[in-house]
Amino acid sequence: MSAWDERAERYRTSQTHAEGDDLDAVVELCNPHAGVKILDVATGGGHVARRLRDEGAEVVTCDASRGMQPDVVTPAEHLPFADGSFDVVVSRIAAHHFDDLGAALGEMIRVSNRVLVVEDMLYRSEEEHEAEKLRDPTHNRSLTAEEWRDVLVEAGLEIEQELFFSKEHDFDEWLARTDCAGPDAERVRELLAQYSSDDGSSWSNDYIVVKARKSQR
Ligand SMILES: C[S@@+](CC[C@H](N)C(=O)[O-])C[C@H]1O[C@@H](n2cnc3c(N)ncnc32)[C@H](O)[C@@H]1O
Repeated sequence: MSAWDERAERYRTSQTHAEGDDLDAVVELCNPHAGVKILDVATGGGHVARRLRDEGAEVVTCDASRGMQPDVVTPAEHLPFADGSFDVVVSRIAAHHFDDLGAALGEMIRVSNRVLVVEDMLYRSEEEHEAEKLRDPTHNRSLTAEEWRDVLVEAGLEIEQELFFSKEHDFDEWLARTDCAGPDAERVRELLAQYSSDDGSSWSNDYIVVKARKSQR
């Protein structure tokens, strides 16, 4: 059983994943309606998929973790779908976990016939990076906004829209979600002091949401 299988229920019930301006924006950028076919990659608790289905879109979910109960269990780096089989491919707050972001992007672009919508947390400092890895060893690397632009354009996409959001995380809940406790948790709080609230009960991080389109060339 993977770390994600064990955490699945916590991500299904996490308020920072289940709602937010960022989620509203991701849904809007996917332009969901009846007749639109959308793939939600690394669906986690399925929050994007739920909202897209509410709007009438046909949604397929996939995730590397069986415990997340996706429609298809598969890593983003190997998507078992034909070229161009979805109108939109979306992935929210997951790319920083991918072992090979280039391969995952390549696959997401291949199976989309038009649009890619990606949200992820932004890299800000080595302290934040160290804290994220200590709190969750599956955290691989997040990118800056500039790096996101570069990887998407290098992958052959045209960036259509770019939005930025912040999220506030209750420290206790956020650390418990990945079973981070004791001295590790104390160190994480220290490393994130510059992003923490005055009373130290929460901290905030930044997110980018990008809508990119396959080039017509
Ligand atoms: C933070 S959760 C995703 C949140 C979810 N998209 C949402 O909007 O609430 C990260 C997810 O990425 C999945 N994951 C991690 N590495 C993956 C990979 N290489 N391919 C596919 N899914 C992966 C995990 O199993 C987990 O469900």
